[in-house]
Amino acid sequence: MPPATLPPPEPISLLQRWQYYWSPQSFAADLLKRHGPLANVRFMGTDHAMVMNAEGGRQVFAQAPDNYEVFWRESFVGTHGENNLWVMTGREHWNERKLFAPAVHPGHLRAKGEILHDIARDHFARWHAGQTTTAFDTTKAISLDVIMRLVFGVEDEDVMDEGRRVLARLSSTAHPIIIFYPELQRWWFPPWRRFTHAKADVYEWAGRLISLRRSRGTVGDDVLGCLMRASDEDGRPYTQLHICNELLAILSAGHLTTGVALAWVLYEVGRDPIVRAKLRAEMEAAGPDLRAQHMLSLPYLAAVCNETIRLHPILAECGRIPIEPIEILNHTIPANQALIISIVSIHHDPEIYPEPERFLPERFLHRTYAKTEFMPFGGGHRRCLGAALAEYTLRIGLAEAVMRWDYEIAREDRDTRDDLAMGPKYGVPLRVLRPYKPLAGTERPLADRREKDALSLAG
Ligand code: HEM
Repeated sequence: MPPATLPPPEPISLLQRWQYYWSPQSFAADLLKRHGPLANVRFMGTDHAMVMNAEGGRQVFAQAPDNYEVFWRESFVGTHGENNLWVMTGREHWNERKLFAPAVHPGHLRAKGEILHDIARDHFARWHAGQTTTAFDTTKAISLDVIMRLVFGVEDEDVMDEGRRVLARLSSTAHPIIIFYPELQRWWFPPWRRFTHAKADVYEWAGRLISLRRSRGTVGDDVLGCLMRASDEDGRPYTQLHICNELLAILSAGHLTTGVALAWVLYEVGRDPIVRAKLRAEMEAAGPDLRAQHMLSLPYLAAVCNETIRLHPILAECGRIPIEPIEILNHTIPANQALIISIVSIHHDPEIYPEPERFLPERFLHRTYAKTEFMPFGGGHRRCLGAALAEYTLRIGLAEAVMRWDYEIAREDRDTRDDLAMGPKYGVPLRVLRPYKPLAGTERPLADRREKDALSLAG
């Protein structure tokens, strides 16, 4: 059968636009009911083809990467500059990803697991019994420290402190309106001014970081090291601006996303005592000397994290713009048509995930999902570069929290759009009850065991 042309775009009412923004899942569910897995809708003056099933996602990701332009290019060039992964295409994009590959490789990051564990331990040690706390405050601080230590390679505590200040401020000023409406990226628009001031401070900080590395004569095996060693096609080293643009793009992609995901993991575990008991049983069965390396291989721990980002995808969708017409779900998608793959819709497909609204980690123990059935990190040539780092942060962060504390959720929370990404509306309020006491056979929480080990090593 020859491919059909896309149906004319359905104009989206103000109410539906509101729904798309605040509740992308119910927006996609309504579209799916009315149009099937491929819909054409017009909002913000542009036609958007929405792909809402796994087969459609597979077909989008299977196209030649060179045939795609960047989604929201103009917006991201304005915020993050010309030379960074988000706005690169074709060979340049491929080469840049290849450059980062060793520093974001799962094996490389696995070996750094104890650094990640130390970061989680430091942050969860700040909780105290009887306190009600907002999980997202802790988890975004963990995520930021992880990126600074493992991606930017910061080691000095005063550079970390300054980084925490400037990077957290930048994340809080990246208002979605300056992405949705690039014409507002002007000095007279206050959110844009706040963003550019915060960005200038970050670039100054990153400049100091680069100089510090140069002065020490070591480049390092992290992402910053890859950038400092890199040269362009004419053999010239990357400029400081290029390096800063990349660091900014990576930070923007990885900081709040991972923080949100870890907050949701703590939420789902905090509302279900059976899940907590199973997690602890798995960890305690793994022996008294559980290290980060082992945590990364525990199947139930991984299943809980996967099920969380299945149920609460942090990016509700990802986008592509074909340069030449392509065929998706037996329809021709014309050149330059915005194409949105609805991750949230695929993750709630009852054919793939029976009872999709329920949190059931066992799904991930009993079945292996295809790349386009479970796609929290997108797919194809733009699949998330930090997926392994994010997964490891979730597993180690969760392991540390449940083995250190007995806690429960203080109120129900729900998904809403945080900036471009989704996030918990209330930031996941938790009640910290008491330190967790492991069952007989393992004497102390994991975190304390490390301290005990250190003491016995010291004699
Ligand atoms: C749970 C946390 C995270 C989630 C859910 C997430 C999700 C995503 C998604 C959906 C995309 C778009 C993929 C596509 O268009 O197909 C993406 C891209 C990207 N992510 Fe992540 N991400 C997370 C954490 C991270 C971290 C920790 C980093 C780095 C430290 C990172 C770096 C990137 C980069 C650089 C891109 C752009 C890749 C490209 O355009 O080639 N992300 N991420």
